[in-house]
Amino acid sequence: MNIIQSVAQMSHIMQEYRSQDVSIGFVPTMGALHEGHLALVRKSLLENDLTVVSIFVNPLQFNNPDDFLKYPQMPEKDRMMLEQVGCNVLFTPVKDEIFPSDFQKSFQLGFLDTVMEGAFRPGHFQGVARVVYRLFEIVQPHRAYFGLKDYQQFMVISKVVAPFFKDLKICGLETVRENSGLALSSRNLRLTAAQYHEASQVPGLLKVAAGMLGQKSPDEIRKWFEVELSKFSELCLEYLEFAHAETLQPYINGDSPSSYRIFVSFYAGDVRLIDNMRVPKE
Ligand code: PAJ
Repeated sequence: MNIIQSVAQMSHIMQEYRSQDVSIGFVPTMGALHEGHLALVRKSLLENDLTVVSIFVNPLQFNNPDDFLKYPQMPEKDRMMLEQVGCNVLFTPVKDEIFPSDFQKSFQLGFLDTVMEGAFRPGHFQGVARVVYRLFEIVQPHRAYFGLKDYQQFMVISKVVAPFFKDLKICGLETVRENSGLALSSRNLRLTAAQYHEASQVPGLLKVAAGMLGQKSPDEIRKWFEVELSKFSELCLEYLEFAHAETLQPYINGDSPSSYRIFVSFYAGDVRLIDNMRVPKE
């Protein structure tokens, strides 16, 4: 595996590959890798000649400075995992090169930035869009892989960032979960055993709540969910929403429930976790 830190060197190498018609798959990450990230890498390895993974903890997307400071970093373990899975290029840029002082680009995120993660994490998606735009500029991938665990992020990148790059396909992969059902997340490393146990109950509740859509209103379902969550001493609900899978617009009574996804954000202790899933067909 080739490990590159310099932006100039990375741009140069990728330009070379592009000119030789090598197909390039790209998986941007913030490190502390787990099987969810590796699923994206494996998919890229299957579909492309060359797979690039980036690790960069992007300060612009942390609306909470404490979350940024506590974000887990384990570069050696990450490197070994990527070697093992067969990644070709690891890109580990530094902040001043990713965001030079003359980098001014900002994005019109529109409605996508007004709901759920957009509403609760002001500036988050602008930060995500800016870093992903820069990474796409440098890596010049043909395909880029994102997890649907961060569904709203996947939408922002597909609809707002990707259109700036021709020949780029954005691929979304379903969430990888623990046996318990808990979605894999780098943040799970910060949970105590009790918090982990309680957080693992949430996906089951989410599934039940999803199945209620159509019979009960989103408000009624939210009330039921709140009561269920209040039975766990470490958990605190931030939001529970139903949003259209293509537009993120709220549920309209009478619509087919299976066009929607259910989204949750909650705290386990001081760790903020998100999850989402499709509403099943009746
Ligand atoms: P990070 O949280 O490291 O996630 C990198 C990629 O892995 C994202 O596309 C995310 O959706 C995906 N992912 C995380 N957990 C997953 C799981 N359990 N199953 C499937 N995929 C999963 O998301 C980011 O980094 C950043 O915002 C980034 C896009 C790198 C921009 O800084």
